[in-house]
Amino acid sequence: EKGTYPHFMLKEIDEQPFVMRKIINEYQTENNELKLDENIRAAMKACDRIYIIAAGTSYHAGLVGKEFIEKLAKVPVEVHVASEFSYNMPLLSEKPLFVFISQSGETADSRAVLVKIKELGYPSLTITNVPGSTLSREADYTLNLYAGPEIAVASTKAYTAQIAVLAILAVDTAKAQGITLDFDPMQELAIVANAMEILTDQKEGIEELVREYLPTSRNAFFIGRSTDYHVCMEGALKLKEISYIQAEGFAGGELKHGTIALIEEGTPVIALATQENVNYSIRGNVQEVVARGANALVISMRGLEQDTDAFVIPHVHELLTPLVSVVPLQLLAYYAALHRDCDVDKPRNLAKSVTVE
Ligand code: M6R
Repeated sequence: EKGTYPHFMLKEIDEQPFVMRKIINEYQTENNELKLDENIRAAMKACDRIYIIAAGTSYHAGLVGKEFIEKLAKVPVEVHVASEFSYNMPLLSEKPLFVFISQSGETADSRAVLVKIKELGYPSLTITNVPGSTLSREADYTLNLYAGPEIAVASTKAYTAQIAVLAILAVDTAKAQGITLDFDPMQELAIVANAMEILTDQKEGIEELVREYLPTSRNAFFIGRSTDYHVCMEGALKLKEISYIQAEGFAGGELKHGTIALIEEGTPVIALATQENVNYSIRGNVQEVVARGANALVISMRGLEQDTDAFVIPHVHELLTPLVSVVPLQLLAYYAALHRDCDVDKPRNLAKSVTVE
């Protein structure tokens, strides 16, 4: 139940630090080793390529997961939108492993892919918040998200739980392959949980940013590079689905290939700057849009911040920044919807789980 919260979405945003701690507990042994089903470990080791299949927010989590698995475990990963994969299957590798990411475990588009790849005899793993769900029952293996029921149509805590579990899976696979990593994932996730808590305590500041940057605009752009780009896609989806502001997340470098034509006086542009190797380039993109009149809201990370940044998130491990940078974006969407008197938890035309094609 909502308790004292006006909306499930706000409650679920606030629950994220607790979900992180729950995941740390569930995926750790008493000796601080990673706790993962041996069969999953073996399947991850045996495959030559991973195909992540998902929709919406879960697809966005998959994009971040690809980076973890490729960078840490050195296994190639493709991420596919489920509804596309069904009709336009790419050329598969010799030993594929299919990973389905789904909060509900009931998304019809993903289920259709699972049926198809099972017919072809390929192994499957479902990462879900609902252990008894169809995708969980029908796949060979399941990893649970432990996020607790997510009621609001806009997915928040499931997204961060998916990313945390994907990080654990990537680290575990790396270790199983004898790759040594220079950080302790559980320690880093604990730092993330604390950072999330700091951000959920800054709601008034974010509501103020909504007044300043998204007052009456009909559209908004989110720009980022590298990992930040993927979080921008999620920030835009959150904003559009609950506030009905037309929002687009795209790669900073793509601006000059078309989208910059849309920037005019007062256009809101939300830029993420949490990645050191692209900090200089994304700052350049911000200057480009500001020069054309954009109202640019820069969200950066401690250590990379500049004086003009509107919001600075606490410093966390560079790979895990999506877990933290998404929180202000979720809150921006929440307050933008609230200020427009939208039905935050039940946006028009949408269902919590999409069980039809
Ligand atoms: O239950 P699933 O994770 O499979 O759902 C996938 C999408 O329908 C879902 O993430 C949707 O995009 C959310 N409403 C986004 O907030």
